[in-house]
Formats: sequence, structure tokens, C-alpha cells
Amino acid sequence: MSDKTAKLELNGTTIELPIYEGTLGYPVINVEGVQAQGYFTYDPGFKVTAPVESKITYIDGDKGQLLHRGYPIDQLAEKADYLEVCYALIHGELPTKEQKQDFDSKVRNHTMIHEQLRRFYDGFRRDAHPMAVMCGVVGALSAFYHDGMDVSNADHQEITAIRLVAKMPTIAAMCYKYSIGHPFIQPNNDLDYAENFLYMMFSTPADQNYKVNPILAKAMDKIFTLHADHEQNASTSTVRLAGSTGANPYACIAAGIAALWGPAHGGANEAVLVMLDEIGHKDNVAEFMERVKKKEVKLMGFGHRVYKNFDPRAKVMKETCDEVLAALGINDPQLELAMELEKIALNDEYFVKRNLYPNVDFYSGIILKAIGIPTSMFTVIFALARTVGWISHWLEMHSEPYKIGRPRQLYKGYDERNFIEIADR
Ligand code: CMC
Repeated sequence: MSDKTAKLELNGTTIELPIYEGTLGYPVINVEGVQAQGYFTYDPGFKVTAPVESKITYIDGDKGQLLHRGYPIDQLAEKADYLEVCYALIHGELPTKEQKQDFDSKVRNHTMIHEQLRRFYDGFRRDAHPMAVMCGVVGALSAFYHDGMDVSNADHQEITAIRLVAKMPTIAAMCYKYSIGHPFIQPNNDLDYAENFLYMMFSTPADQNYKVNPILAKAMDKIFTLHADHEQNASTSTVRLAGSTGANPYACIAAGIAALWGPAHGGANEAVLVMLDEIGHKDNVAEFMERVKKKEVKLMGFGHRVYKNFDPRAKVMKETCDEVLAALGINDPQLELAMELEKIALNDEYFVKRNLYPNVDFYSGIILKAIGIPTSMFTVIFALARTVGWISHWLEMHSEPYKIGRPRQLYKGYDERNFIEIADR
């Protein structure tokens, strides 16, 4: 906080609006004072509005910087595993050796889901999108843990965070198994987090000797880390808004999953592959780019609301992408097509002028495809990884007093008019 103020003249009255400084980033102007003068503020898309104070994640879009609890994302991706990042997001610090052991073991102890929750899957059509299934099943968790959902109880908060982080890979893998008609595979707690997820995705009762490829498990762990949190994005803001009503955490996370699903947000990784399918061949790229420039279609996996220089997650993801493709010796024409698209977009004036760079979802889509994960599961994996970010923000919100989120509007409908009887309409 600071004693600086901004002056604003409204109706001939000058009002002083307090300016608050954060540790990093733009200072913010507290605009609450405009209401006393008979005004609201207008900011479609919340482009310049900071509704919260937070200590979890910092993004500098111009520098291409992303910090979780102060640690740069590239260092976390290189030196920490996903569960260490989870611990840091939830608790504020990277764990000590003992804290890591304790956290990992708590997560391992909660990987299974209740048998009755398993039956929820049967209620979905077998061709249901896995995100639809995930939304429903995660929301249903609130029906199983109602004895541990006092939002002001610290023990309840901790066990909720552990349960969610632990169960998401199981729930996600079950969404996949259900969609292909395979039996569900129970978690194997001898495996680490990312290995266990791949094991539940790809092993079958008929293949008892299934071994997870360590290169793919490492890549999966990085994908989880790079998607763990991203400050006040659309889905996290949805979780906070739902949480501000006092709603239970599982319902809030289900709301976050729903918000993530859209192609402008987490659904972009799936949309990238759909777009590559639509382009079909390298020879069609130039024509597709002309359609993008005419604004007939969007180049999915490009652009970002906050990063206007480069997406630091995309940088790490591209390295992982190269590693995975080389390790698997993959020579897929669709991936060649993706690389061609990247090359053109990075050099074409239209994209350069608008700062349209590949974002994390462009490369993560390509890696997931190489690992053998079907396109419809891409956003489910994003949701799995982002759950820790959502729950960290939910916990932060409940650690101090908060107000219900209630935006205003600029009303442009009819002025008050008289009711018309149905016979006269
Ligand atoms: N393809 C083509 N043109 C684009 C794109 C795109 N992907 N994104 C932005 N533009 C153009 C837009 O038409 C506008 O042009 P002009 O100045 O001529 O009107 C200009 O760039 C600025 O765009 P904007 O719509 O003001 O940007 P925004 O900050 O509102 O949108 C975005 C950000 C991520 C929604 C958008 O870039 C987009 O839809 N990208 C594709 C979807 C995608 O990859 N999303 C994943 C984001 S990363 C994962 C996550 O965090 O969720």
C-alpha cells in the first residue's frame, strides 16, 4: 500500500482515489470512491481490473515472466517435480525433504475414489465428451465429503486440497477409459504422480507388464507443472467468484473446469489439433493464413491476453516437445504441418504486429498427441494440472475476509414501461 492517490474529476468534484503498490507489477487504483459520486467503472473482459490481492503467482506479460511464489517457471520446470510445485502453490514455500515426503505420501493415500463415485460414470453416454464427465464427477465429490467441507476449518481445507490433487489423475484417466469402453485401472501407489496417471490411462488388465516410458512420464510431469497456475485467468476467477458465495470447494472446482473448457481458454489445446486436421496439409497453410487475416478463423494456440511478447511456458514446452518427438522418433505429417504454421506465424507481419506468438497450448497439444493421448482428453489434462492452482486461490481467499463477487453493468435495455396484457400483444 502507499499514500499516493489519483485525482478524478466527476460532476465538478475532484475525488482522490488511493493507489496501491504491489511487490511487482502495475500499481492499482482503488475506484470504489466513484460510487459515492453516482458512477460505476466499465471494463469489459476485466482487462484492467484487479478484484483481488494475491501472493501466489505473478505474470509480467511484457517480459514474458511467470513466477509461482516468486520462483521462475523455467526453474521450477527444470528442477522441481509437479508435487513440489503443488506444495509451493498451496503452502507458499517449496517443501523441505521431510515436508515433501509427507505431502507425497498424503497424496498417494488419497488416489482412489469411492466405489459409489465410480458409478456416476455409468450415467454418461459412452460418447460423452470427457470434459462433460469430469465436470459432473468432480462436482459430485461434494456429495461424498460433506463432513469435511467447513470452509473456515483449516484441517478441512488441507484435506480438501490433498483429495483434489490426489484424485484428479484417477478421475481423468477414468474419463478416458470410460470413453473407449475399457475397464477402469486402479491407481498404483508405487508409481509417482505422472507415472501413475499414464499407467491408469494406458495399462489394461490384459497387459499386466505394462511399463510407463520414463521420458513420457517426465514430459507429462512438465506439462502438469507448466499448467499448475496462471493467476486470475477466466477459470481461476470463476473458482474465486463461486467461492465468494461460500459454495463448497468441489462445486467451485467443477465451476472452474466448466470455465476452462472453452476454446479461448483450456479448450485451445484440443482446438489446435482440430485446426491442424482442418488445414490437412502443408500446402494449405498459406490459404488458411489468409482466412485468419480476414478474421474468418482464429489461429488456435496463438495469442494471449497477458503475454504480449512470449509465453515463458511455451518456451519450456517447445524444448520438451522436441525431446519427446526425438525420443519417440515421430515423423507425423500433422506435426510437420504444425511446425510450418509456427514458422509462418512467427515471421508474418500480421502476426508479429499483433504479438501473436505460440502459447503453451500450441506445443502441449503436439506433445500430448505424440504421447498417444486422444484430442478429447487434452483439456481434461489441463484441468487435472490446474486444480492445484484453483484450490490454492480458493484457500487464499478463505484465509482472509472476502466479499461476495457482484459486478455491476451498463444497462442498455428498455426504460420502465407498462405491462401489456397477453390479449393485446
Ligand atoms: N488468431 C488470429 N488473430 C488473433 C488471435 C488468434 N489466435 N488472437 C488474437 N488475434 C487478433 C485479434 O483479432 C485482434 O486483431 P485486431 O487488432 O486486428 O482487431 C488482435 O489480435 C488482439 O486480439 P484480442 O482479441 O484483443 O486479444 P485478447 O487478449 O482479447 O484474446 C485470446 C486473447 C487468448 C483469447 C486470443 O488470443 C485467442 O482467442 N487465442 C486463440 C485461443 C488460444 O490459443 N487460447 C489459449 C490461451 S493460453 C492457455 C490459457 O491460459 O488458457
